[in-house]
Amino acid sequence: MDVTADRPSLTKGADPILSVRNLETTFAVRNSTIKAVRDVSFDLRPGEILGVVGESGSGKSATVNSLLRLLPPPPTAVTTGSVVYGGEDLLTVPARRLRAIRGKEISMIFQDPSTSFNPVQTIGWQIAEAIKVHDRRISRTAVRARVIELLTMVGVPSPQVRFGQFPHEYSGGMRQRAMIAMALANSPKIIIADEPTTALDVTIQAQILDLLEKVRTETQAATILITHDLGIIAEVADRVLVMYAGKIVESGQVREVFTDPQHPYTLGLLASLPRIDTAMEELLSIPGQPPSMSSPPSGCAFHVRCKLTQGRDRCRQEQPALTAAGGSGSHLAACHFSDEMESEAISIAAIVGTDVRAGTRP
Ligand SMILES: Nc1ncnc2c1ncn2[C@@H]1O[C@H](COP(=O)(O)OP(=O)(O)OP(=O)(O)O)[C@@H](O)[C@H]1O
Ligand code: SF4
Ligand SMILES: [Mg+2]
Repeated sequence: MDVTADRPSLTKGADPILSVRNLETTFAVRNSTIKAVRDVSFDLRPGEILGVVGESGSGKSATVNSLLRLLPPPPTAVTTGSVVYGGEDLLTVPARRLRAIRGKEISMIFQDPSTSFNPVQTIGWQIAEAIKVHDRRISRTAVRARVIELLTMVGVPSPQVRFGQFPHEYSGGMRQRAMIAMALANSPKIIIADEPTTALDVTIQAQILDLLEKVRTETQAATILITHDLGIIAEVADRVLVMYAGKIVESGQVREVFTDPQHPYTLGLLASLPRIDTAMEELLSIPGQPPSMSSPPSGCAFHVRCKLTQGRDRCRQEQPALTAAGGSGSHLAACHFSDEMESEAISIAAIVGTDVRAGTRP
C-alpha cells in the first residue's frame, strides 16, 4: 500500500456515516469533575479508517465509549452533544434501539480480548450468540457455518476445531482475531477498535493491522482506530484526529498532518517517533506531563508544554478554536500561531520504514 498517497475515493466527498458534534463528557469522581471529552466534533466517512491518537488520558477511549453510551450512567458520567448515525442521535435514541445498533451496525474491538470473552463458554458459541442476539430465528447449523466462515476470514487456523475451544486455549493473538470475528459477525457498517494491538507482540500486531485493512477492503466498513502509536496511524489510517486534554487539536488526511503538522503537539509526537532517517540519539520527547483533566490549564491546554508559545498571553488566556490550517480545506488545527510552525516535513515513508511490520519498533 502506498501510504504517501491520499485515498480520495474513500475519504472525500462521501456523506458521513457518523457525525459527532460538540461531544462533551464529564466524570464525577469523589469531589472533582473530570472533563474527559471537551467539545469534540468530527465526521466518519464510509469505508475510511480514521485514526485517533494522543497520550494516555487524552480522552480517546472516553470519546468512543461516549458514542455508544458505554459509560456509567449519570450522575457519574454525563455526555452532551450529538452523535448522528443514519439520521438518529445515538445519545438520545431509546436504549432498546441503541442495543439493536450496538454489535450489529456498530461494533467494538477492545485492547484486551481476554476480558471480553466469557472463560467458561467456547469461543465459537460466544460468536454465535453475538449473531443470535440480532437474528433469533437463525438455525443452529446456519449460525455454526457463519461462525466458521468468520473464523476462517480472520485467519484462525482449523476453525472447525477452534470453534469448540475455550478462550484459555487460544493465544493472545488468536483471541484478538476471534474478537475481530465477533465484531464482524453482523456485517457492521462501523467498527471501533480501541488499541486493538497494544497487548500483542510486534509480529502479531502487524498481522492484526493487516487483518483490519483486509476487513475494510472486503466489507467496506468504516473504522475508528484508537492508538497512542503514530506509526500505526501512518500505516493504516486515511485521516487522523490528534487529541490533547480531551480536545481535538489537529485533524486531517494522514499525509498532510504528517508532512506538514500545524500544531506543536503533533510535531512533538512526530519528533518522538523512531525513524529510519534519524539516529536514535536525536529523538525528542515532549517535555512535561499531560495536564490534569479535572482542572485543565487556562487558554490553550498545551501552553505549559509548548515551545511555540514563547510565553504569550493569548495562549494562556484564550482557547484556540479548531480551524483551517495548512492550506487544504480538510486540514484543521487548534493553535493561535499555526502560521509560525516551521514544518520539519517529516516523511511518512521514514516513519513507516520503522514500522511494526519491520519489527524495528522498540
Ligand atoms: N469510567 C471513568 N470514570 C472516571 N474517570 C474516567 C473514566 N474513564 C475515563 N476517565 C478519565 O477520563 C480521562 C480520559 O481517559 P481515557 O480513558 O479516555 O483516556 P485515553 O486517551 O483512552 O488513554 P489511554 O491511552 O491510557 O487509554 C482520564 O483522566 C481518565 O482518568
Ligand atoms: S495556541 Fe499557543 S500554546 Fe497552544 S499550541 Fe499554539 S502556540 Fe502553543
Ligand atoms: Mg484508552
